[in-house]
Amino acid sequence: MKNQLQKLKNSVEKEIASCNGLDLLRELEIKYLGRKGELTQILRGLSDLPIEEKKEVGPLANEIKEEITRLIEEKRKEFMSSEVLGKIKEEKIDVTQPGEGENLGNLHPNSIIQYELEDIFTSLGFMILDGPELESDYYNFEALNIPSWHPARDTQDTFYIKDPLTSLRTGEKDRGLLMRTHTSPVQVRAMQKYGAPLRCIVPGRTFRNEATDASHDHTFYQLEGFMIGEDIAITHLVAVMKTMLSQIFKKEVKVRLRPGYFPFVEPGFELDFQCLICSGKGCSVCSQTGWVEFVGSGLIHPNVLKYGGIDSKKYSGFAFGLGLTRLIMMKYGIDDIRLLQGGDLRFLKQF
Ligand code: DAH
Repeated sequence: MKNQLQKLKNSVEKEIASCNGLDLLRELEIKYLGRKGELTQILRGLSDLPIEEKKEVGPLANEIKEEITRLIEEKRKEFMSSEVLGKIKEEKIDVTQPGEGENLGNLHPNSIIQYELEDIFTSLGFMILDGPELESDYYNFEALNIPSWHPARDTQDTFYIKDPLTSLRTGEKDRGLLMRTHTSPVQVRAMQKYGAPLRCIVPGRTFRNEATDASHDHTFYQLEGFMIGEDIAITHLVAVMKTMLSQIFKKEVKVRLRPGYFPFVEPGFELDFQCLICSGKGCSVCSQTGWVEFVGSGLIHPNVLKYGGIDSKKYSGFAFGLGLTRLIMMKYGIDDIRLLQGGDLRFLKQF
């Protein structure tokens, strides 16, 4: 038995030494150490031997098994490291090859114009404010001098959300919450928070219950602006509008005022600017009028100042509301409003 073991050991050692690949090594391992392997069979047969012989052969058999296992492991490591090295040698990196190029996104035209306007207005000392898109009836209408019976509500239909908690929270009669129809509600919110004097702009998303077509969407962007101080007059409004327009269009822009009605200003105006395409001669962009409608504006109504907790005898202010979406369409010559929120990358990548 001892001899048989010794012979086995010698032949295994030889076979391992001459083995030339990982697959062959695995075969050898199975041949000798596997469940039906030669050495395993011998070890199993040990239990049938007389006790004396068992004492002698047992340790030797285990020793041989350990030795073979060690040799196989060693050989395996050798193969593996040379295989990895071989692969590294095969791989070549050409550092002069051009990179793959990052696929960076770009700003939405909405953001481009909004940031531009924010720069212009902050340079004039205006704060940039935000307000809730889900607004209360109070700030969206009531505090802007549009009570529940006012016909002006009909021109700004929106999406109403029932909220039985509104009356508990605000003490108002529950008229629910609504998707704000304009950015003007932030006027009274800001007055209540900061008092006068005050200079703010409010860029933001607004909503109307509109059937969509090329020039109407249920969701669009506005920019509200207002300035409150002692002796603020329409001349301040005109100066600020001209400054803004000439910065956006990079040239001197003429403006004109027409009377316009908005319940939260008195007097109220529509402010137009002279068409930049035809320089006022009349073309298809300005419907042959030479002027482009731009913002609703006026001097803030004393009732609105009162809602904001500001003394209308001491302070006055101007306000304007600008259709950011329309400005973008004009600046980039976009003829369908639906493209702006359509999410089509072919369109968005152009900016
Ligand atoms: N909020 C008005 C709208 O969405 C626009 C507007 C008009 C805002 C006159 C003003 C303003 O601040 O003075 O139609």
